[in-house]
Amino acid sequence: MITGRGTALGVLDPREKLKSRLYGPISDWMPRVEEALQTELQSRYESVAPLLRHGAQLGGKRLRPALVLLSAAVIDPGRVSESHVRLGVVLEMVHTATLIHDDVLDEAELRRRSPTVHSIWGEHAAILLGDYLFSQAFRLAATLPSTVACRWIGEAARQVCEGELRQVLARDALDLDEATYVEMIRGKTAELCGVACRLGSHFAGGSPQQIAALQRYGEELGIAFQIADDYLDLWGDDQAMGKTLGSDLLQGKWTLPVLRTLQTASSIDRAALVAILSGPPERRAEEARPLMERGDAQAYTLRVAEVHRDRAKGSLSALPAGEARDSLDALADFAVARSY
Ligand code: IPE
Ligand code: IPE
Ligand code: MG
Ligand code: MG
Repeated sequence: MITGRGTALGVLDPREKLKSRLYGPISDWMPRVEEALQTELQSRYESVAPLLRHGAQLGGKRLRPALVLLSAAVIDPGRVSESHVRLGVVLEMVHTATLIHDDVLDEAELRRRSPTVHSIWGEHAAILLGDYLFSQAFRLAATLPSTVACRWIGEAARQVCEGELRQVLARDALDLDEATYVEMIRGKTAELCGVACRLGSHFAGGSPQQIAALQRYGEELGIAFQIADDYLDLWGDDQAMGKTLGSDLLQGKWTLPVLRTLQTASSIDRAALVAILSGPPERRAEEARPLMERGDAQAYTLRVAEVHRDRAKGSLSALPAGEARDSLDALADFAVARSY
């Protein structure tokens, strides 16, 4: 039986290692985020309660709450407060809502090592559960002492939706360029990481320069994180990742390895790749992989992720040295060199 932190085989989940290693400076605070999440996601209706429990379940990396708390702790560990816990819960609920909706779009079966919401309860319930989480998140954000959280999170959530919309509308477009790809992932993934850092430092009394440096850190980390995710969608292990992989090509979402191959392959390989990408969706990843492996698509993709990782790390130099800064620095490494 799967109980708490371990797995069926008694092996510690790597996510727990991440939490104990990199979330060390905020280890007193992260359990409060978990508790508050469970409290927020309850319903008195027996039919609805299991969906909310599924939405709040353990299994995610809890990266956005950790970014909020570490961005506060790096300013001043003594200024980390209940407001940061609440902000972490808000951002985790927004993030989870986007994942539930994203799994509908991607027709994914597995998320956080469990069946996806839509594969258990159907698409209608998944869409409504995502809406529920968004609504609950903004209700909770409105209980903070100023309106700034609602404003900034509202703007970030708008950009997440815009990024996802742009990606849906760019499906199958073989003329997609790298700059547009980066702009789309900036919206769908990096904005939420950026706002987590911005809010964490703002609510800890950071100076405008410190807040700007942390927001930049979060955005660059988010871009690196999504590029690595797109790499792992093709070359990762779905058991380790705990989610359905291979869906980007299936859904006609051309990610950086594809764009690089289209741009640099010989005309014969390029034509072969175009034919594969225009062919049956379920065969695309398997057939395109060897073509991409022939060139430098893998190395190039990781190199671009590393450029953004290094920009994130560079932003940290404006902040006080200490354990929290070391954790943020190590998190930027993790964003790229991860297997889950
Ligand atoms: C998944 O985010 C979606 C992307 C932005 C790539 P995470 O990898 O942070 O997902 P969880 O929260 O750990 O499940
Ligand atoms: C979308 O990206 C993540 C969001 C920001 C909603 P992906 O489609 O790559 O995310 P995964 O791989 O399903 O987690
Ligand atoms: Mg997806
Ligand atoms: Mg992905």
